[in-house]
Amino acid sequence: MAPTKDQIRERLATIATPAGAKLTEAGVLSDIMVTDGKVFFSLSVDAAQVKAWESVRKQVEDTIKAIPGVTSAMVALTAERAGGGKGAPPPQAARTPHAHSAPAGPSGVPGVKSIIAVASGKGGVGKSTTSINLALALRDLGLKVGVLDADIYGPSMPKLLAIREKPQTIGGTRLKPIYRYDLAVMSIGFLIEEETPMIWRGPMVMSALTQMLREVEWGNLDVMVVDMPPGTGDAQLTMAQQVPLAGAVIVSTPQDLALIDARRGVAMFKRVNVPILGVIENMSYFVCPSCGTRSDIFGHGGAQLEAERLQVPFLGAVPLDMIIRETSDAGLPVVATQPDGPHAKVYREIAQKLRDSLAGPGAGRAAPRIVIEA
Ligand SMILES: Nc1ncnc2c1ncn2[C@@H]1O[C@H](COP(=O)(O)OP(=O)(O)OP(=O)(O)O)[C@@H](O)[C@H]1O
Ligand SMILES: [Mg+2]
Repeated sequence: MAPTKDQIRERLATIATPAGAKLTEAGVLSDIMVTDGKVFFSLSVDAAQVKAWESVRKQVEDTIKAIPGVTSAMVALTAERAGGGKGAPPPQAARTPHAHSAPAGPSGVPGVKSIIAVASGKGGVGKSTTSINLALALRDLGLKVGVLDADIYGPSMPKLLAIREKPQTIGGTRLKPIYRYDLAVMSIGFLIEEETPMIWRGPMVMSALTQMLREVEWGNLDVMVVDMPPGTGDAQLTMAQQVPLAGAVIVSTPQDLALIDARRGVAMFKRVNVPILGVIENMSYFVCPSCGTRSDIFGHGGAQLEAERLQVPFLGAVPLDMIIRETSDAGLPVVATQPDGPHAKVYREIAQKLRDSLAGPGAGRAAPRIVIEA
């Protein structure tokens, strides 16, 4: 059983900062993410004190790893240059007006027609699983599709696609994406070792993302699916402000708490003028593998009601299903490996709606359209 954030915080309270203060009271802790026993968070410290903090970082990581139920821990030091605002977003003027529906405006990615972000407010709701299966389902509709793993702290694509090789460089500066199942894929996880503790400064997160967008030979793509990290931080702002996103898809589980987070995700994209293409309810209902009985364990339907309230389209519901988890964890995404099964069908129906909203009238604009699904 994975520990809760509070249990992790309790342990962290026993650790001292280099100045001797309680770690939990020093104002350096980021939000703590716990997914499947994997724990990630960062300590935001003064750049001049990174050396002194390294031993604390190590101690924190070792302490977290020793908690029963924790399978891995990654604690990053995030250093801010004095005077440089915390991951200050690029100036709004850098953004092309009305760039959403432009195939590749000046700030777009050459050759890439539409870029969509798959996001959520909260971690572990299934963004990465949804991203890869949606990308495959869009491919099945005859589109050329790329996948950009924008999760710098916890990249998922190496595992979801069982990719171990490193991307090749072209001319020493540009990178070739890795191709799997006819998808062009790029992830920071292809470039760094999984357990390497990285020091990511706010501006570095942004430059890593823009490099993965612009210094990779994506080729001609109809759609690029961007698997976003959880939350509403630097990565989201970078994407929203530097990339002409055709829109964002919000993944939510049916629990109320996740929905509050989903609302936060929706609000953040709306604030920066990125249209919400729709909401997907993941882990929506459970179908018993032996008897076929359907149980709405989390109170199915919450995301749909929420979508109506927020006046954004409801794209569909994906069941909580052992096969989805097993195939994801084995690097064999279900849409690719069981294309005729019921799961692939669910993802393909969602992909169809997405494609229609990208191609339809007012594409790329937030249409106050409500699609209600049974
Ligand atoms: N519909 C589903 N049925 C069963 N398991 C699922 C489903 N969707 C996702 N999972 C499982 O839930 C876990 C978390 O999923 P995933 O990594 O896709 O979430 P995430 O939102 O991308 O997480 P993070 O916020 O850490 O990036 C994984 O083990 C995945 O296999
Ligand atoms: Mg993820």
